[in-house]
Amino acid sequence: MSLKLGTTTTIVVSSREIVKEFFSKHDVSFSGRSVPYVATAHDHYKHAMGWSQVGDHWRMLRKIYKEHLFAARQLDASHLLRKKKYDSQSSQDFMDLVWLLFENAGRPNLADFFPVLRPLDPHGLLRKAKLYTGKLLAIVEEYISKRLQERTATSSSDASSSKDLMDLLLDMSQNEKSSINLVGIRYLVFDLFIAGTETTSSTLEWAMAELINNPEKMSKARSELEEVIRKEDRTFEESDIARLPYLQAVVKETLRLHPPVTFLLPHKATTNVEVQGYIVPKDAQILCNLWAMGQDSNVWPNAQRFEPERFLDVGIDYKGHDFELIPFGTGRRMCPGLPLADRMLHLMLGSLIYKFDWKIKGGMMDMSDKFGMTLQKNLPLMAIPVKV
Ligand code: HEM
Repeated sequence: MSLKLGTTTTIVVSSREIVKEFFSKHDVSFSGRSVPYVATAHDHYKHAMGWSQVGDHWRMLRKIYKEHLFAARQLDASHLLRKKKYDSQSSQDFMDLVWLLFENAGRPNLADFFPVLRPLDPHGLLRKAKLYTGKLLAIVEEYISKRLQERTATSSSDASSSKDLMDLLLDMSQNEKSSINLVGIRYLVFDLFIAGTETTSSTLEWAMAELINNPEKMSKARSELEEVIRKEDRTFEESDIARLPYLQAVVKETLRLHPPVTFLLPHKATTNVEVQGYIVPKDAQILCNLWAMGQDSNVWPNAQRFEPERFLDVGIDYKGHDFELIPFGTGRRMCPGLPLADRMLHLMLGSLIYKFDWKIKGGMMDMSDKFGMTLQKNLPLMAIPVKV
């Protein structure tokens, strides 16, 4: 589908076949980013990987993610710290600000369709983006300063085994040969927080909502956990995930029905490209409608039902090779946080359902959603744990 919105041509991709054409066959030409006006707040677009055009800066950031932050050996080495973090309370203020930023960025903005209107900021969206980005950057700044102070205080006795991702990044910024300085690290941490929190927590919330709505699926997932873990009488560990195919299927099914980054991040054509006889013009914005793809009854029988079983024994995964299921995208702009998100989702969901059954206050659940840059549950899930 092609839409002309003001001066912007937008192409909406919404089928497995066309995804393959755009993000596999012509991936290089469609790897640009269409940057919304609100992302100019506090120069965010100049630093963020998600808004950078493909080039040296983008490559340097992807390398840091791939080789230093989320490489399998790095994730394995930090699994105890991740467990500790999961136990601590996350800051609700921070999450609320992230949602406000996303909701604001998801609103249609005349300034994007008619750039001549930009100085007027017609809906006040840039003003709000500056406010929320500024507050979030200040929180990150404080977090980094505190950590720098702690490091100075403990540097001599600090064992490398207790280092977490933050230490790794600060080590990098203090290395003279490094291509990233403290300002770069500040934006990188900001991006880690905003790209990783809302997406992961909203997927978890949907998974819980679907399981509570489908008690027989909840029991099935719990039985599998009991089978694998209780035999050995211990807590649930990351290393168990590979032996839990039903839990994995629950996560896939949740991401099919509720893809948090519903349109991917907007891509941009860097040249004119011919796709199936049509010309996609240079600078066109490309949106990929993951929500519609998840509802396609030609691909998914009983598409509206929550049926994790559909993923058992079929080998479909969301690692970017199966174009019908791409909640993390595919190709060179694919989500670099996938290895972390994948572990966190299974670890958190498994921990929540292993020891507890969950009931809804009042018995009825609202399953409607609301849209910002991400798709969130309209009303937050309010569930009561019941010990099993
Ligand atoms: C359930 C969890 C998550 C989902 C579903 C998700 C999904 C996505 C999607 C769809 C994109 C855009 C891909 C495209 O435009 O083609 C993306 C980009 C990105 N994600 Fe994630 N993500 C998740 C978690 C995370 C985490 C945990 C991090 C880091 C801590 C992260 C960091 C990023 C970054 C930096 C980008 C921009 C990549 C680029 O433009 O080159 N994401 N993610």
